[in-house]
Amino acid sequence: MPKWNFVERDEVDSTQLVAGELASRGAPEGTAVVAKSQSAGRGRLGRAWVSPPGGLYMSLILRPGRIRRPEALPLVAALAVVKGVNDLTGLDTRIRWPNDIMVGPKKLGGVIAVAETYGREVTLVLVGVGVNCNTPTSGLQSPGGEATTIAEEVGIGVEIPKVRDSILGSFSHLYEHVKAGDDLAPLWKEKVGTVGKPVTIKMRTDETPLSYDAVGIAQDGGLIVSRSGAKSTVRAEETEWLRETD
Ligand code: BTN
Repeated sequence: MPKWNFVERDEVDSTQLVAGELASRGAPEGTAVVAKSQSAGRGRLGRAWVSPPGGLYMSLILRPGRIRRPEALPLVAALAVVKGVNDLTGLDTRIRWPNDIMVGPKKLGGVIAVAETYGREVTLVLVGVGVNCNTPTSGLQSPGGEATTIAEEVGIGVEIPKVRDSILGSFSHLYEHVKAGDDLAPLWKEKVGTVGKPVTIKMRTDETPLSYDAVGIAQDGGLIVSRSGAKSTVRAEETEWLRETD
């Protein structure tokens, strides 16, 4: 991984948009757009991501080329958040598949990714990371649940650049595994809290949510579920929402 090249802004509409513009003008892998706040932060499926000052809002430009499992990158980024936050603060978080960073039932952060391909080359991935650090929780909202912040959980404010660097340190390490085509399952095995739980999943194309047991994570980051004894793999992009139901 090249050294991260930071593009730092006070307020932007969305770091994903800024990173997308820079990428379209040829910005290289390793460019990291970081903003103090966002006026139009976006979550998965176009949902709003409330982004007042006090959070980490960051988008990474990656150009992985021909890698085996580009679909796994969002989950790898989520794992980097879990590890990075833990290394810095000791706070224990879990991934609620596919992209939520949770402290128990409360959401601490989230990850999104969009990719461009040319044939089998992955020419661009924009990984967006949002982590609630010091913002008062009254200013935050999380669809379908409560939000929390690092400060609230550990009882003291954190320096956002340190959170950024810790997450990037973890990400750089994990990204090398992705590029090497390594088996990723052991990396996120313990950190995806969804695995081993009963879940309700609303697929984008279905009217009715269905209940499953989450039994594992596939190599490409999909969630392996079981229903009436039959196993299948659910992909993040097919999923409108997932609730852990225990
Ligand atoms: C989610 O939980 O749905 C993902 C939230 C991702 C938010 C981050 S903040 C930095 C980057 N810019 C955005 O507009 N979104 C991502």
